[in-house]
Amino acid sequence: MHKLIVAPSVLSADFSDMGKAVALVESAGADWVHLDVMDGRFVPNLTFGPKMASDLRPMTRIPFDVHLMTLEPENLIPDFIKAGADWITFHIEATVHAHRHIEAIKREGRRAGISIVPSTALSSIEELLPFVDLVLVMTVNPGFGGQSLIVSCLEKVRKLAAIRRALGLEFRISVDGGINRETAPAAISAGADVLVMGSAFFGASSPSTEVAGIKALVAHNDRV
Ligand code: DX5
Ligand code: ZN
Repeated sequence: MHKLIVAPSVLSADFSDMGKAVALVESAGADWVHLDVMDGRFVPNLTFGPKMASDLRPMTRIPFDVHLMTLEPENLIPDFIKAGADWITFHIEATVHAHRHIEAIKREGRRAGISIVPSTALSSIEELLPFVDLVLVMTVNPGFGGQSLIVSCLEKVRKLAAIRRALGLEFRISVDGGINRETAPAAISAGADVLVMGSAFFGASSPSTEVAGIKALVAHNDRV
């Protein structure tokens, strides 16, 4: 079983002070920084490119979890590797040769993830499961923070966890969208071990209390 990872998304942070946002992620006791890269084509919003990751890289040792919501993510993968991304996840809906890109990421010593939006079936990534380090199940339609979790997406998490067990694989299962202290228990019991949190972390009056609250859920599960 993987340790639970809390990965705050800086999409909900103040873009005029990203350095402060990353410092907050670290001081609040979270595990990874989630960087949402949007191209205005795959999703109807724009964020930032590899320069943001490379400028932030010297500020922290915390792993960078890059989520590419871009068409043809292969065009950006080399630059995010150079920028110091630790985990690079892209969408199956956005490219043709996903296996090739996964291998390219792993060849550079980074971890590779594949993601699906709510309308994409799990079967579309079945062939990739033995090769990936992470599967990111979108629990909202990507593009914006602050949306409500689509509960039916957790069924895909449950199925993935069962496949992982049956095949003896070790990929992590990440959930992204609408995760907070109320929805986290259902995501964790479905099998998620990476929780991406945007608005619930950056909108909290005490982000460290949010992180501690989420981690306590697992400590509680372990006891029962
Ligand atoms: C959505 C992004 C998410 C987003 C989550 O397109 O991929 O990472 O920041 O934000 P919340 O937690 O507010 O739903
Ligand atoms: Zn994301």
